[in-house]
Amino acid sequence: MAEVISGKELSLKKRDFMKNQVEMLENKYGRKPHLAVILVGDDPGSVSYVTGKEKACNEIGITNTTIKKPNDITQEELLEIIEELNNNKSVDGILVQLPLPKHINQTFIINSIRPDKDVDGFHPVNVASLYLKQPGIIPCTPKGIMEVLDSVNISIEGKRAVVIGRSNIVGLPVSKLMLDRNATITIAHSRTKDLASVTKEADILIAAVGKPLFVKRDMVKEGAVVIDVGVNRNPETGKLCGDVDFNDVLDKVSYITKVPGGIGPMTITCLMENTIECFIKHVEN
Ligand code: GUN
Repeated sequence: MAEVISGKELSLKKRDFMKNQVEMLENKYGRKPHLAVILVGDDPGSVSYVTGKEKACNEIGITNTTIKKPNDITQEELLEIIEELNNNKSVDGILVQLPLPKHINQTFIINSIRPDKDVDGFHPVNVASLYLKQPGIIPCTPKGIMEVLDSVNISIEGKRAVVIGRSNIVGLPVSKLMLDRNATITIAHSRTKDLASVTKEADILIAAVGKPLFVKRDMVKEGAVVIDVGVNRNPETGKLCGDVDFNDVLDKVSYITKVPGGIGPMTITCLMENTIECFIKHVEN
């Protein structure tokens, strides 16, 4: 039977540590880190993520502002808000919740955030830093995945890792982080032929496809470590579920994360870490 890795418990421990860290930082520098979140529209998924971020900030003592704007905000108006936050010395991190409405050019918006306030690590400067192994901001979900693997001392060097999904937010950056830890990486995606034969090679399987219960028992190797990044609704029960059919694979794999309570809370925890990192750079420069 697999050991279920709880991202929720790991998050609680890390948030406890950060709470003390923020207190110490405030004593030292006379202010707390501040995160600004911009939420456009009222997509239930986005609203729920943003609420989770506010809750985490409040737990840790990171001050935060959520700027809520209607769906019909223009790109120029959004750019003006970002410009103001870019220039505001009391703001350490800026996060624009994605996806944005279709009339707004997402790339343009991401590129307008100051790289040293880009807590998502999506700006081209931070993306380039990751690929060139230079200091920069690492995207939250990939960072959270690495922390989860390290929390149970999974050895990565020399292992075969398969990532399903090639998004800029998860698939590509986590592949680079695994490569930097000397795993042998395969990135599988919607056009991969005979996907099961590829995923069955994985000592570490990272599922980030966004399809409910997509990974079944016959797609995993005996004893594999399975990281489930999916946050989906089960079409039958309406409940939250991952990309992996948890119950189907549970007694075949060695470690697995669950949904909810796995990578999701770790993503938010890493966002808090990134905000503190940005703060430290700001106050020390
Ligand atoms: N929407 C879904 N995931 C994310 C994320 O990690 N960052 C932002 N900004 N929006 C998202």
